[in-house]
Amino acid sequence: MSGIVVVGSANIDQVFRVERIPSPGETVLSHGLSTALGGKGQNQAVAAARAGAETTFIGAVGTDSFGEMVRAGLSKDSIGVSQLRTSAKPTGTALIAVDGTGENTIIVEPGANSDLTALTSADAAVISAASALVMQLEIPLDTVVEAARIAQAVGTRVILNAAPIDELPQALLDTLDVLIVNEHEAAELARDNGLAPELDGLGQRLLALVPMVIVTLGSQGASLHRVGADEVVVPAHRVTAVDATGAGDTFCGAFAAGVVEGMREDDALRFAVAAASISVESHGAVPSIPLRDAIETRAKESAL
Ligand code: ATP
Ligand code: RIB
Repeated sequence: MSGIVVVGSANIDQVFRVERIPSPGETVLSHGLSTALGGKGQNQAVAAARAGAETTFIGAVGTDSFGEMVRAGLSKDSIGVSQLRTSAKPTGTALIAVDGTGENTIIVEPGANSDLTALTSADAAVISAASALVMQLEIPLDTVVEAARIAQAVGTRVILNAAPIDELPQALLDTLDVLIVNEHEAAELARDNGLAPELDGLGQRLLALVPMVIVTLGSQGASLHRVGADEVVVPAHRVTAVDATGAGDTFCGAFAAGVVEGMREDDALRFAVAAASISVESHGAVPSIPLRDAIETRAKESAL
């Protein structure tokens, strides 16, 4: 077994830079529009590959020029695209507003991502050959459950970034080795499963559902929770954040890359926090994902 397989979404992000995010019913002028590769699945695959992992992407794009952009972008990062499907629907698109503080609001039209259903025997073979399966929730939930079951049956490690948050069926929870959520997603998940949603002790309480939980804490860093072990908190590097889009995805891809190459989980956490801190310093999702050398340099800075 080797490498990472990501089963997930690929989008083209249309990013509007605004002074502030408009309230309902309000119109604001943008002071810059850019088009970039994105989608949680694609972002996490690129993050894993740039962090040094051999990576394959299972997803779906349209027959449009955006689909070609996704295929070319993945290939440029040496990510396997043999299982990238084409759909009659347009490539997924995200409408993103980023404000002056780097915070964002995102609307996703799934398009072709919603056609990622019924995995093939070739998809199953790729999942079975991988060390880790990495997924998010921008594709049909049935596909996520199916991929996770295939992975669990052969011992491929299952890592789920439960974003955007949805109710997770017990059949999916039962397959998970690692759950990665931000604080908002962690609270929702706790509520859905009859656990107290208060932030204090939340990661530890989620261990009732999954044996390993990571809670990302934005500019505060991230915490790691494992059954039978003390929690580990890694503070974030102090940076000037211009765009947080894809920070969580960079974190997930880098963490997965770290664990499949044999890092201890707390070292993989530090590696992921370093990678994500770089991603917030520049604009865009895929464009801001760092390469291995930059992550290592940043990770050493925290040790000083
Ligand atoms: P997004 O949806 O914006 O991709 P998220 O909500 O999934 O992100 P966050 O917890 O906001 O996840 O951020 C993920 C990781 O990115 C954090 O754990 C942290 O390591 C890093 N990060 C985010 N914001 C900052 C910041 N302002 N400074 C340094 N690191 C940051
Ligand atoms: O997590 C960031 C991503 O969410 C963006 O790239 C956008 O496409 C949405 O999927």
